[in-house]
Amino acid sequence: MDIQKTRLDFPVLKKKWNGKHLVYLDNACMTLKPVQVIEAMDEYYNEYPVCGGRSLHRMSRRVDEKVTEAREKFKNFLGAERAEEIIFTRNSTEGLNLVASSLDFKKGDIVLTTDKEHNSNLIPWQVQAHKRGIKHMIVYSNPDNTFNLEAFEDTLDRAKNVRLVSMVHTANLDGYTIPAREIIKTAHDHGALVMLDGAQSAPHKPINVNSLDVDFFVFSVHKMLGPTGMGVLYGKYRLLEEMAPFIVGGDTVSDTTYEAARFLPPPEKFEAGLQNYAGIIGSGAAVDYLSGVALSNIEKHEERLNRIITDGIKDIQGLKIIGPQDPALRSGIISFTVEFPKGGDAHDIAIILDETENIAVRSGAFCVHSWFNYRKCEAAVRASLYLYNTEEEARKFVDALEKAVGLFNP
Ligand SMILES: Cc1ncc(COP(=O)(O)O)c(C=O)c1O
Repeated sequence: MDIQKTRLDFPVLKKKWNGKHLVYLDNACMTLKPVQVIEAMDEYYNEYPVCGGRSLHRMSRRVDEKVTEAREKFKNFLGAERAEEIIFTRNSTEGLNLVASSLDFKKGDIVLTTDKEHNSNLIPWQVQAHKRGIKHMIVYSNPDNTFNLEAFEDTLDRAKNVRLVSMVHTANLDGYTIPAREIIKTAHDHGALVMLDGAQSAPHKPINVNSLDVDFFVFSVHKMLGPTGMGVLYGKYRLLEEMAPFIVGGDTVSDTTYEAARFLPPPEKFEAGLQNYAGIIGSGAAVDYLSGVALSNIEKHEERLNRIITDGIKDIQGLKIIGPQDPALRSGIISFTVEFPKGGDAHDIAIILDETENIAVRSGAFCVHSWFNYRKCEAAVRASLYLYNTEEEARKFVDALEKAVGLFNP
């Protein structure tokens, strides 16, 4: 991987604020966009900025071709069997909500999650508990935040009617990746379906939904170099076929009368109304870009940088890294809580890093409030890496953090 060459593709990395370049370490939230993605979207707006799926004129046919191409790219990216298993959504949140709403849950069905789910894989189950009487159960992690397979198996044995295991694949809280293969096999042996929230895995490591045998897999394309407001839901075709539509209206049906509608098969059934065509086309370009670099290279690169940062900050007084201490188990994420004798919190650190060195990190509860509340802890700082980050940036982050912390330590 030639990082310096890669960086030239990202216009925002050339920009300076107060005479300094940006050090962007908020990739778990949203990644930067390469010129290839921007140009693909520009091409749509400049050359065929019209609707797909409806009209027969040449521009509309071009849109259809580009959407079909993009769907095929995601099929190959995920190792899915059919392009029809790829549903374009706005983000991971929409994919998770779609499955929560459209799967035929019955009263008493159990949905099993981990104890560190993003709100997007927590609230939908709370809503379904209220609406349809499902039961949400949690598998608590080991003390180092790794997955407790024993507790998982035990829960599946005891709670007979687990319908769905819906878990964060790589946690945005600490970067830890659950043993998906074992989880899926065990869940299937117990008659449960599995959905993985791949928001932090699909952009950073190779995924093959077919060999994983996962039933549903969601992710956000804006976290993998793609346009904002784009996501994907993968689902096994026979499951998607059986599921009820989610948002309904134009493009989901082949025919209607005043009384009834005849729904189209997936993916159309789930893609209601005119779509974000520029976004879908830009998403296809993001997949091309990532495939050109190879996900396995990105994974190794992030682990190398994570080690530099972890080694540099693990002994800083007042910082406590969340999750396993071995950076090899935390992909490209380094989250830590702070506690200083002279006051100062996670947000202070984030603001100081930004103000002094243009280093962009995230502070807060990262939409995993439930995990923080359970531990009576308010907030943490998170640095999250991607393919364009450099070793120099990793060291710069360590130095700037040491200086920032020095303001609050005696
Ligand atoms: C693990 C995880 N799941 C779900 C989401 C929600 O993603 P989006 O806001 O793109 O729907 C995020 C976003 O940070 C995430 O990190």
